[in-house]
Amino acid sequence: MTTPITCIRDLREMARRRVPRAFFEYADRGAYDEWTLHENRAALDRIRLRQRVMIDVDQRQLNTRMLGQPVSMPLAIAPTGLTGLQHGAGEILGARAAARAGIPFCLSTMSICSIEQVRAATDAPFWFQVYVMRDRGFARDLIDRARAAECSALMLTADLTVQGQRHREIKNGLSVPPRITLRNLLDMASKPRWAWSMLHAPSRSFGNLEGRIQGTDSLTTLAQWIAGQFDPTLNWNDLDWIRERWPGKLIVKGILDPEDAHLAAEHGVDAIVVSNHGGRQLDGAPATIDALRGIVDAVGDRLEVLFDGGILSGQDLFKALATGARAGLIGKAFLYGLGALGEDGVTQAIEIIRRELSVTMALTGQRDVQQITREVLWH
Ligand code: GLV
Repeated sequence: MTTPITCIRDLREMARRRVPRAFFEYADRGAYDEWTLHENRAALDRIRLRQRVMIDVDQRQLNTRMLGQPVSMPLAIAPTGLTGLQHGAGEILGARAAARAGIPFCLSTMSICSIEQVRAATDAPFWFQVYVMRDRGFARDLIDRARAAECSALMLTADLTVQGQRHREIKNGLSVPPRITLRNLLDMASKPRWAWSMLHAPSRSFGNLEGRIQGTDSLTTLAQWIAGQFDPTLNWNDLDWIRERWPGKLIVKGILDPEDAHLAAEHGVDAIVVSNHGGRQLDGAPATIDALRGIVDAVGDRLEVLFDGGILSGQDLFKALATGARAGLIGKAFLYGLGALGEDGVTQAIEIIRRELSVTMALTGQRDVQQITREVLWH
């Protein structure tokens, strides 16, 4: 009998065995000394909850709204690069699992399946995350494609205009599509489920970019083009032309400072994602959960504050909600489920977090996910 999967860490362990190392570590690790990556975890672990008893918690409401959209629980799937290399067609599987669970899915610019492929293979509207590149024509084109695909929100990532170095990516020789070296070949040959899923995938390279960039016919040049395209000139004025092209809900991701949160509110964005990019960018930045409180206090009444910072359980999500977030995003937890068991693994990841959130609400005396306040935190 196989051991049952009971938590996200079980999915992580399974993904570690099933996904080629370069892609697993891409999902799993952080920048430089990984201090911020570890601090995201440590800071969540430091928070204590008040156990409350003798309160009727039989009927518990987890459903709420995000950006006006009804959701079955305050959770969304974060945009993650190279998702379709954790498991063939990963973006499509993730979008389907999210739709079935009644939560939003956000597709990344750096996805393997393109916007159009995900649109064609799914029914529910999804969000699209955009990187504004030096080639503004390309960025405009991406926004137009997201509109044509009827995406329900656009998420601008603001914290990756230069890349924080992830040592593991360099040491593993991470490349898209996977480079066929002897070492890679041996690694992939020992991952038959992964290889099978990749064989049947609709795409194995950057789906949104392939064939659309002039002068980049070979795939290595495509990766080089991307690396040179992150745009350090990105600033608040760019929101104006994004707004012109995107009349729908607009989210800015990568806010970690109250001053930036103020500016986002002044520029009329609908929501921000408080995030340090999963510890993948500025090493030395505070844990997201530690930054969350001040940001909620600064702008929580003016826009929706979403939390993205290492949620691996319903307890983590509960702590973010209690600190003041409207909802949480999962990146790693999503990718572990996907790498472990494909679509079913994503479903399991979401349902594990849902059950843990529900039990945590019960044991803290909470009936309604929208009513959770800092009162539940132990000081
Ligand atoms: C891209 O968003 C990355 O973190 O690699």
